[in-house]
Amino acid sequence: MSTYLLWGVAATRRDVRIAAMPTAPYHCPGAAAVTDGRSPWPAVTAGNDGAPTVEDLPMAKDIAIDLGTANTLVYVRGKGIVFNEPTVIALNTRSHEALAVGHQAWQMIGRTPGYIVAMRPLRQGAITDFEITERLIRLILQRAGVSRLSRSRVLICVPSAITSVERRAVREAASRAGASSTYLIEQPMAAAIGAGLAIEEPVGNMVVDVGGGTSESAVVCLGGVVASKAIRSGGFDLDAAVQGYIRREFGLAVGERTAEEIKITIGSAAPYEDEAKAEVRGRELMTGMPKTVVLSPADIRDALEDHVRQIVEAAVTCLGEAPPELAQDIIVQGIHLVGGGSLLRGLANRLAGETGVPVHVVDTPLECVVLGAGRCIEAFDTVRSLFLEDD
Ligand SMILES: Nc1ncnc2c1ncn2[C@@H]1O[C@H](COP(=O)(O)OP(=O)(O)OP(=O)(O)O)[C@@H](O)[C@H]1O
Ligand SMILES: [Mg+2]
Repeated sequence: MSTYLLWGVAATRRDVRIAAMPTAPYHCPGAAAVTDGRSPWPAVTAGNDGAPTVEDLPMAKDIAIDLGTANTLVYVRGKGIVFNEPTVIALNTRSHEALAVGHQAWQMIGRTPGYIVAMRPLRQGAITDFEITERLIRLILQRAGVSRLSRSRVLICVPSAITSVERRAVREAASRAGASSTYLIEQPMAAAIGAGLAIEEPVGNMVVDVGGGTSESAVVCLGGVVASKAIRSGGFDLDAAVQGYIRREFGLAVGERTAEEIKITIGSAAPYEDEAKAEVRGRELMTGMPKTVVLSPADIRDALEDHVRQIVEAAVTCLGEAPPELAQDIIVQGIHLVGGGSLLRGLANRLAGETGVPVHVVDTPLECVVLGAGRCIEAFDTVRSLFLEDD
């Protein structure tokens, strides 16, 4: 059995994220099913070679944003994904100046002096700090080359369980950040489109999106969400469970980034082949001294179990609430697993075992939602019926 050494955090996380990124043009199994002439969906691209400059882009831009608890992605019509970074902003609390967003701000988490705070303005899929989210969106739009002058129509992906107050907050944050008009689409719908499912057909399809702060299961059919079950629990809760476990069992404090790295490196929802232990260094709570402990995949599996069970149970409930005809379709089509949490080892097998339905992890789980929304803005006027109505 080999052992991973976890001294730092940045390298592994970046490697995992980069490995999950698609190369342009975007390929997804089943994508052909929606580009066969019957479908309104044009092809999308997932160009992600860095933020474009303003000169690269046409004046009026339609853009799609997946404002996730963990990661924000921006898709510009005709261009592809131009921004894909953590939903983190670093602020100077003395001058109230925004110092960094995305990767740069993420690097600062847990490492800032007293007057700088690196924070995530979304929790469990919802905006917890309206003003800071607005600043974050404005900075991200700037990075994507969008300004008020761009007269942008902005499509934002939101959790299906979003309240009307939260919807208003998202619309307002986007319009104050520079959008000329804002539209919302439910994340599972965008995910289903991004996964290449024929959502406009009279056939049931099921998507399970395990994100950082939420896990949403939904059955879609004829362009609408027919059954859904969302829980406000996701990858961050798994990280917190790892932190809690190490604190309880070893009296050791580790940061959230280290906990996430442990989860990604050896975490799982079911036993797997070639399990390797991880050596982790943290600060002993009693003495304040550095200490190294060895963690086994079985330990981490136990730590994650409660949350994994909740995620799987939510999917089972959603499937149980689907009308029988659609449930029948899903047994044939399978469940499509998206979101970063779908990469947790063994989760797909566990879900398949407990639902009795085949489970497919999509090709690009972290980008699937924004690519689906991207398809919508590529065909904006023909797919407006998919957008959520104004309150
Ligand atoms: N290989 C992996 N194994 C397990 N978890 C992973 C892996 N890669 C990424 N994740 C987790 O995926 C989560 C981020 O996923 P994603 O970007 O889909 O969330 P989000 O869309 O920002 O959140 P939400 O949709 O809940 O608002 C993080 O918690 C991250 O730790
Ligand atoms: Mg998400």
